[in-house]
Amino acid sequence: MDAPFDPPLALASLSGDADAEWARAGAQYAGAAFLGGIALDEPSRAAARDLVARDRNEFLPDDPFAWIDDQLDALADVDLRAGVNVRATSPAPVREAAAVCASHDAVVEVNAHCRQDELCAVGCGETLLADTARLREYVAAAAETGATVSVKVRAGVDGVDLAATARAVADAGATVLHVDAMDSEHAIAGVVDAAPSLFVVANNEVRDEASVREYLAYGADAVSVGRPSTDPVALERVSDALDAAHASTT
Ligand SMILES: Cc1cc2nc3c(=O)[nH]c(=O)nc-3n(C[C@H](O)[C@H](O)[C@H](O)COP(=O)(O)O)c2cc1C
Repeated sequence: MDAPFDPPLALASLSGDADAEWARAGAQYAGAAFLGGIALDEPSRAAARDLVARDRNEFLPDDPFAWIDDQLDALADVDLRAGVNVRATSPAPVREAAAVCASHDAVVEVNAHCRQDELCAVGCGETLLADTARLREYVAAAAETGATVSVKVRAGVDGVDLAATARAVADAGATVLHVDAMDSEHAIAGVVDAAPSLFVVANNEVRDEASVREYLAYGADAVSVGRPSTDPVALERVSDALDAAHASTT
């Protein structure tokens, strides 16, 4: 498998904050940055407006597809694989966003991760984990455009077999699985075994050499950082930890 990005450190989406400027600021350390999440259709945008009403940060540009295009344009001179984390209630807007991503050689990341009630109520985010058929449709619609497709998932959701999800999305055309392991770091090993063709990005509390080594030992191909993605000291620490871990295995 060709690595979709290198070095194997990604910046993970932070809604309302993760834009081109944020990605540029972390590019010295990271091989990829997932902008967004961005709500693509009216129901997901209404949910995002409800989140803003309770003081959460969200991107709500007039035209989300133009926003994606503009943000990716703004990263054209930055040495980094861009990605865009998208939320939608049907496959068609995902296909449209993926086409924009494909035109920039950016990764489109289907958000099957967010757990806020407002987003789940309209069928976005985590609800896709319990609806593999719909998740497969989203991935297939995105992959049709030629874009590299990532799926962002969360471990530890009741009733969800993440290994089965990993197999399903790989079969539907995803090449990257971005896993928020929550408190279940070993979940990484489960998806790596279940779908060896996927490039697995391990996320959650990646902060230092111990956490990097733990995720790599479970078979992760890369790691990502969310909350510390604006902290250059933290990014340098994780980047150094990846270098040290790779140096000790070569
Ligand atoms: C304020 C905030 C906003 C987030 N927004 C998104 C989002 O829109 N899409 C997504 O997939 N993950 C989102 N996340 C999750 C992060 O990308 C990441 O998975 C999580 O924070 C765990 O990683 P960390 O321990 O490195 O922060 C958000 C997290 C925070 C704290």
